[in-house]
Amino acid sequence: MTQSREFDIIIWGASGFTGRLVALYLFNKYGANRGLKWAMGGRNLTKLEKVRNEVANKNVSLVIADSNDKVSLLNMVNRTKVICTTVGPYAKYGSNLVEACIESNIHYCDLAGEVQWMYKMINLHHESAKINGSKIVHACGFDSIPSDMGVYFIQRQAKAKRGIIAQKIKMRVAAISGGISGGTYASLSQVLEEAQKDKIVYKVLTNPYGLNPINEQFGEDKSDLKSVVFDKASQSWIGPFIMASINTKVVRRSNFLSSYSYGKSFRYDEGTIFGKGFFGRIKGMLSTIPIGLIMSAKHGSLLKKGLDLLFPIPGEGPTNNKMEKGFYNLRFYITLEDGANAFAKVTGDMDPGYGSSSKMLAESAVCLAKDKLPSTGGILTPSVAMGDSLLIRLKKNAGLTFSFKY
Ligand SMILES: NC(=O)c1ccc[n+]([C@@H]2O[C@H](COP(=O)([O-])OP(=O)(O)OC[C@H]3O[C@@H](n4cnc5c(N)ncnc54)[C@H](OP(=O)(O)O)[C@@H]3O)[C@@H](O)[C@H]2O)c1
Repeated sequence: MTQSREFDIIIWGASGFTGRLVALYLFNKYGANRGLKWAMGGRNLTKLEKVRNEVANKNVSLVIADSNDKVSLLNMVNRTKVICTTVGPYAKYGSNLVEACIESNIHYCDLAGEVQWMYKMINLHHESAKINGSKIVHACGFDSIPSDMGVYFIQRQAKAKRGIIAQKIKMRVAAISGGISGGTYASLSQVLEEAQKDKIVYKVLTNPYGLNPINEQFGEDKSDLKSVVFDKASQSWIGPFIMASINTKVVRRSNFLSSYSYGKSFRYDEGTIFGKGFFGRIKGMLSTIPIGLIMSAKHGSLLKKGLDLLFPIPGEGPTNNKMEKGFYNLRFYITLEDGANAFAKVTGDMDPGYGSSSKMLAESAVCLAKDKLPSTGGILTPSVAMGDSLLIRLKKNAGLTFSFKY
């Protein structure tokens, strides 16, 4: 990107639960204007002013744009080098913004985990973003940075230390603690509603290679784990991981976008560890019940209405205490190209969805605005768009650790 613009970054959605955390992080880390020119964006000036009083100061500018008003979106994107958006559900509010960013020739990052919408954006805009060099990067939060950057890191380590690639990687969630926001629950409901109504959406969600172009949807991976099984890699009972249907597709898209740098026979899957023996198995079975209920609740049904009452409404989310005390610990069981085993770990220091995701998203935005990156444009994944530069930022600033042993 060549333009000089008024701002490096606009955080759009700064009045929402996660956008507020992103703004708070940026202000604490980079001040109002210490080498980074950034602004808070939203649709409601009064709300934005209130949040700015709480998390920053008057030196941070405010920008108004509404997702339904294309002119306001274009006016906003023309003022900045990068848009960092937490306005979701993205399928509802995000499409015009992606188009505007490509039109204005700037970079973009978000926290989207809505695979059906990412698929739509890829089909509509990948080629034009590729031509003009705009990096449009979805999934810059817990889904899917730890998985996507974890696999990228492993491949770099395997190459550097052994001169070969990892052929098979099994990611296992060993420990996790956090909560959910109303915005995330609304986004999950949006995906499920669309999948129940539209067979094509259902097909995209259930296709392991659903984020690759039609003629590149091949490989040995099967659909994500749906039941509790004994896992030889971790020597434990494992069950479904709710983010796997997003993460695994993002990792496979990274392989495709990087000209199959992980190999055409690369295999990747994810699961949650529940423990050994009888109790591990029972724990796994009990843990799958809520996931099963959420997934099967039909839009408009009594079950769905009942579930809605149990979750926060948009704008609300976990307490500060819950976010501070949260964490995650992901293990990667690796089979290298020559058959040898290796092991890697990725950890995060706050709750995955908000404390950690807000830092990952903010650092992605700074990386897109400030770092020297490959000129590749398109609808990209975090690892393909930002690679080593993002890895350094995640370790240095965002509380993530990456380790590799063979
Ligand atoms: N991938 C991950 O790991 C991850 C983690 C966290 C969140 N997320 C995703 O991030 C998104 C936001 O979650 P959240 O909990 O922060 O949601 P939220 O609290 O409901 O915030 C949504 C924001 O969107 C704004 N907004 C709504 N409609 C708008 C419109 N028409 N034009 C402009 N702005 C509009 C809201 O503005 P007002 O304040 O004016 O209403 C608010 O600022 C969700 O899609 C969620 O799934 C993903």
